[in-house]
Amino acid sequence: MSGTRIDGRSFAAAQAFLLGAKSYWTKRIFPAVRAEYDERVAREGARPETAADAKRLMAGSTLYAYYAWLERHLQRYKYSGRYGLQAWHAQDRARLEAVLEAPIPPQLLELGVDFELPRYYIGTDIHQHPGGVWSDPVAGFVYERGARSTTPLAGARHEDLHDRLTELALQAAPGAQRILDLGCGFGKSTRPFYERAPDASVEALDLAAPCLKLAARTAADAGARNVRFRQADAAATGCPDASFDLVTSTMLLHEMPPPVVERTLAEAARVLRPGGRMVHLDFLPQVQPRGDAFARFVHYGHGRRNNEPYMEPLAEMDLAALLARLGFVNVEIRPFEEADGTLAPDYASWRFPWTVIIAEKRGADRVR
Ligand SMILES: C[S@@+](CC[C@H](N)C(=O)[O-])C[C@H]1O[C@@H](n2cnc3c(N)ncnc32)[C@H](O)[C@@H]1O
Repeated sequence: MSGTRIDGRSFAAAQAFLLGAKSYWTKRIFPAVRAEYDERVAREGARPETAADAKRLMAGSTLYAYYAWLERHLQRYKYSGRYGLQAWHAQDRARLEAVLEAPIPPQLLELGVDFELPRYYIGTDIHQHPGGVWSDPVAGFVYERGARSTTPLAGARHEDLHDRLTELALQAAPGAQRILDLGCGFGKSTRPFYERAPDASVEALDLAAPCLKLAARTAADAGARNVRFRQADAAATGCPDASFDLVTSTMLLHEMPPPVVERTLAEAARVLRPGGRMVHLDFLPQVQPRGDAFARFVHYGHGRRNNEPYMEPLAEMDLAALLARLGFVNVEIRPFEEADGTLAPDYASWRFPWTVIIAEKRGADRVR
C-alpha cells in the first residue's frame, strides 16, 4: 500500500529476487540465445557480418524476445516500483540528505554555481535510473546501491574491476603524480587511485552534484586528503594545459554522443603533459574474443533496452583513427578482463564487452 513504510526485509527480498533472476538470465538464458543463434547460422548457411544481419537472423525468436524483455524489466524493477531503489531511498531522504550536508574538509568538493548540464545528458534517464543520476539530491545513494549489481556475475567482486583498472593505469603511467578521473560518478572509480597513489593528487570530475557530494563524503570518511571532486564537463574541464600525467575514465565514453566523445578525448590531449597517458575503460563488442555480429547485436540491443543511446554510436566510431588525429601514439585498444577467466574462449555467460583504451600523448621527453 502506498503511504506505508517499506520494511527492510521485503525490500531486501525483492532486490535479491531481481538479482537472482538477473543471474539466471546471465548464466542460462544468454548462452541459450547464443546457441539458438549458432543453430540458425548453421541451418540457414548464413554469414552475418553486421548487427543488422544478426538481428534479421534472430527475427521471430521467442527466446530472444524473452531475453530482451527480462533485460529491460529486471533493471526497471531494480529502480522503480514499490520495492525499487528509488522508493527505498526516498523514504529515508531526510537522513541521507543530512549525511551529504554534514561538514567535510572544503578542499574535497567544488560544485558549480548555476551549473548548466548538457541537453543530451538530461534528455535520457540513463540506465533506466528515473531522473538520471543528477536530478534528485539522493540520486548518488540510489546509484551507489544500483551499481553493486551492474555486473551480476561478479556481485561484490564488481569492486575488483575498478581495482584492476587502477592497477593497469598506474602501470601504464608509472609514478603519475597528477591524475584526472573523468566522469567519476559517486567516486567508485576514483577511490582506488587516491588510495593506491597516496602521494599523487587526484582530481575527479562529474556533471552530477548528488554523486559528487557522495564521493566527497566517502573520501572524507576514509580520511583522504589527496583528492578533489569537482563539478565540470569532461569535454571542457577548465584545467590548465599539460597539467596531468594520467587521465582516466570508467564507463564514461558510452554515455556521450560521438561529438562529445571527440571533444573529451581532445580535452584529455590538451590537459595531459607530453608523454602522459590516457586510460579509458568502456564497452566495444568487436574487440572481444567472440566479437562477431552476434556480440554487436546483443550489445546494441542492450543499449536500447537500458536507455543507453550512445553505446552503439561509440562502438561504431573509429577510435584508433581519432586518437591518431588528436596526437596520441602507442594506442592500444584491447579486451579487459574484469574478473578472472572472463576472456577465456569458452566463457559462455553474458558479460559487458569491457575494453581498455590506452594512449600516450605525443612528445614524450621521458626516458623509457
Ligand atoms: C556509468 S557512470 C560511471 C561512474 C564511475 N566512473 C564509476 O566507474 O563508477 C558515468 C558517469 O559519467 C558522468 N558523465 C556523463 N557525461 C559526462 C560529462 N560530459 N562530463 C562529466 N561527467 C559525465 C555521469 O554523470 C556518470 O556519473
